[in-house]
Amino acid sequence: MLKVVLIFFVGVVGLCAAAAQLEEVFAWKEVSFAWPSEEAKNEAVKTGDYIVHNNLPLGVERWRDRIFVTVPRWKAGVASSLNYVPLTPANKTASLIPYPDWKANTLPKGEEKPTENAVISTFRVKVDACDRLWVMDTGLADILGSPNLVSPPAIVIFDLKTDKLIRRYTLKDSDLKGEESFFANIVVDATPDKCDEAFAYIPDLGGYGLVVYSFAENDSWRIKHNFFHFDPLSGDLTIGGVNFQWTDGLFGLALSPQNENGYRTLYFHALASTNEFSVNTEVLRNKTLATDPSQYNMFKLEGSKGPGSQTSASVLDEKTNILFLTQLCKDGVACWNTKKPLNPENLGLIVQDHENLIFTNDMKLDHERNLWILSDKMPIFIYKDLNPEEVNYRIFKVPVDEAIKGTICEA
Ligand SMILES: *[C@@H]1O[C@H](CO)[C@@H](O)[C@H](O)[C@H]1NC(C)=O
Ligand SMILES: *[C@@H]1O[C@H](CO)[C@@H](O)[C@H](O)[C@H]1NC(C)=O
Ligand SMILES: *[C@@H]1O[C@H](CO)[C@@H](O)[C@H](O)[C@H]1NC(C)=O
Repeated sequence: MLKVVLIFFVGVVGLCAAAAQLEEVFAWKEVSFAWPSEEAKNEAVKTGDYIVHNNLPLGVERWRDRIFVTVPRWKAGVASSLNYVPLTPANKTASLIPYPDWKANTLPKGEEKPTENAVISTFRVKVDACDRLWVMDTGLADILGSPNLVSPPAIVIFDLKTDKLIRRYTLKDSDLKGEESFFANIVVDATPDKCDEAFAYIPDLGGYGLVVYSFAENDSWRIKHNFFHFDPLSGDLTIGGVNFQWTDGLFGLALSPQNENGYRTLYFHALASTNEFSVNTEVLRNKTLATDPSQYNMFKLEGSKGPGSQTSASVLDEKTNILFLTQLCKDGVACWNTKKPLNPENLGLIVQDHENLIFTNDMKLDHERNLWILSDKMPIFIYKDLNPEEVNYRIFKVPVDEAIKGTICEA
């Protein structure tokens, strides 16, 4: 009997070992920046404008040879919030290069006003199908210290081919729920043949709402729904050995391919929740309908992911209709084939690593169908102190087809 148990056990371990192999592309103990000069850096250190250990990479995105890395202003001394690192030449500890430049990423001093292309503090960014970079700028510096609203929350859109600002759109007061609003994510609904008809969907994790922005109308509106709230039974988290309680609502958004009418399904979840929901973008895009109480029943529960399955970011592979979901409490990433009902059995764990994947904070899918995963031990950064002698921040890459091989999500 013992033998049978042992064989079974070895078999299970074998399965785990067969999990997708991630390629570690970047691995930093602390991040460095490409300062214009050694003097500029030393001066920033002296004035406290640069405090090395307060710079936590959080968001990731790929465009061609660039990997964008955001560093939100959680604490004082963030050198630059929006940055990229080149993919070639390969260098796992490459310095972050401010985007579009240093000036746009420097906090205004005294009476100075931020420039139109300024990025004060951003958590996540999105590249769209039209070579544009959409940045959700919260405008808020030193969040955990003495919060300072440098400029109101805004969508900042750059042309990646010229690095020029296309548009800055400041959210309206009616898009916000006062000081409770917290915008840490953005997804973009755009097709290459209709770039001017793009929409952005922005979850409000603190105010439990969804802001929709129409590029054509240059207008925005706010949607509320009970499904945007957190689940009080899912907010007790232990990650990286740290226990904490969060109330984060609507957080992860992912879009399906277009249906015949040009609309998509938006999959969404609160962070402090183990459920996944969906709604058709036809509901969200119609300003009248979006704010009409009769739309309430057009939002659907897809199902439950099971205990300990809280997710920050999610992305959907349009070829397979597989949704990838970070698994914060499991130090990994899961998949769900949206053609199957969502339940714990249909959730496959594609990778798990209790050292290298502590807090899988952000994840993106590039046009070559590679998953990019950023892990950054954020709870230790927020509630304790990171050890600068260890690797704390990593960015991994894995092709989708390899990621799903042998999982419940395949076929
Ligand atoms: C990688 O980047 C770091 C930081 O800029 C630099 O110090 C180091 O020399 C680079 N390594 C190589 C092999 O170029
Ligand atoms: C978009 O709307 C804002 C006001 O809400 C306005 O300041 C801005 O100029 C408009 N941009 C364009 C390109 O129409
Ligand atoms: C928006 O929804 C309303 C209510 O269902 C409908 O009457 C209207 O035609 C829709 N507008 C568009 C542009 O689809």
